[in-house]
Amino acid sequence: MSSELVWSKLQELLAEGLRSVGDATDENALVAVQKKYLGKKGSVQAYMQHMRELAPEDRPKLGALVNEVRDKLEAHFAAAEQALRDAKLKADLKLRRVDLSLPGRSRSRGSEHVLQATQREMENIFLQMGFEIARGPQSEWDFFNFEALNFPPDHPARDMQDTLMLENGSLLRTHTSPVQIRTMISYEPPIRIIAPGTVYRRDDDVTHSPVFHQIEGLHIEKGLNLTHLRGILELFAKSLFGEKTKIRLRPSFFPFTEPSVEVDIACIFCGQKGCRLCKQTGWIEILGAGMIDPNVLKSGHIDPEVWSGWAFGVGVERVAMLLHGISDIRLFFESDLRFLKQFN
Ligand code: DAH
Repeated sequence: MSSELVWSKLQELLAEGLRSVGDATDENALVAVQKKYLGKKGSVQAYMQHMRELAPEDRPKLGALVNEVRDKLEAHFAAAEQALRDAKLKADLKLRRVDLSLPGRSRSRGSEHVLQATQREMENIFLQMGFEIARGPQSEWDFFNFEALNFPPDHPARDMQDTLMLENGSLLRTHTSPVQIRTMISYEPPIRIIAPGTVYRRDDDVTHSPVFHQIEGLHIEKGLNLTHLRGILELFAKSLFGEKTKIRLRPSFFPFTEPSVEVDIACIFCGQKGCRLCKQTGWIEILGAGMIDPNVLKSGHIDPEVWSGWAFGVGVERVAMLLHGISDIRLFFESDLRFLKQFN
């Protein structure tokens, strides 16, 4: 074959190849055309066989020309392939109805439980005053829960707290007061701590739950007296229930304090006119407190001749119920979202 003939045949092949690409209506057809022209045994490559027939000076030109034809075809194939893909996608999208107004899938976010929030709020008041947080175990020894707190053995005061006993002789702590003793034994005074935590009693009605939460407060320093206790607890009550909140101290009894007091706030519901919630008295009890009994300081290895202290214990559920006007304590533990969501 003369070189001119090879040139013109190659041009024809190119034209034919370009046409076949145009005729291929799907990817399979396109692949077949590609193989036919550009495969290892394809018709473009076949032209290299004519190399020997050419004059030596024409041979490089044949190589270059074959490459040029191949490149052109390849570019064309690639474009055709892309065009086919685009068309397919378009057709596909046309079939699909995309409803842009459909709401997306959302994940609902959890939030803090109202009791947790109340406890945190109460803790923060004391943290700001320089108290630190102490903790103790929920299964507690009789010694810490009663004995060291000046409950004599077989004293009826133990019956006030319907205790849940465990098989190993310990019990579920009935209050957070044992943390007082544990703290006194572990740290040197002065001591300013609060001890929030879960406590347990065999008790169950609209205002009592067998599992509930308290925050214990303990302040040991030289020269403390009841006015210090009163001052701090008044600040606490005002921070929680509002600047205008009034408190009063009533004499009471706890084995671990002497004197003992019950702290009331002026009824926040009726402004002391008398209502169902304050039982027409104008006052609502919120916590127990008192000056630490010298016997208790001694149990905690602290010298009552040198140090004095006051303590209090306040129920978290009780405060949350007052703050939010909740009348049934069980609502806190039923995990009913209709209830819980009201506090977010
Ligand atoms: N532990 C008492 C209770 O659970 C509450 C209490 C009263 C704690 C007086 C105190 C206190 O620290 O001084 O009923």
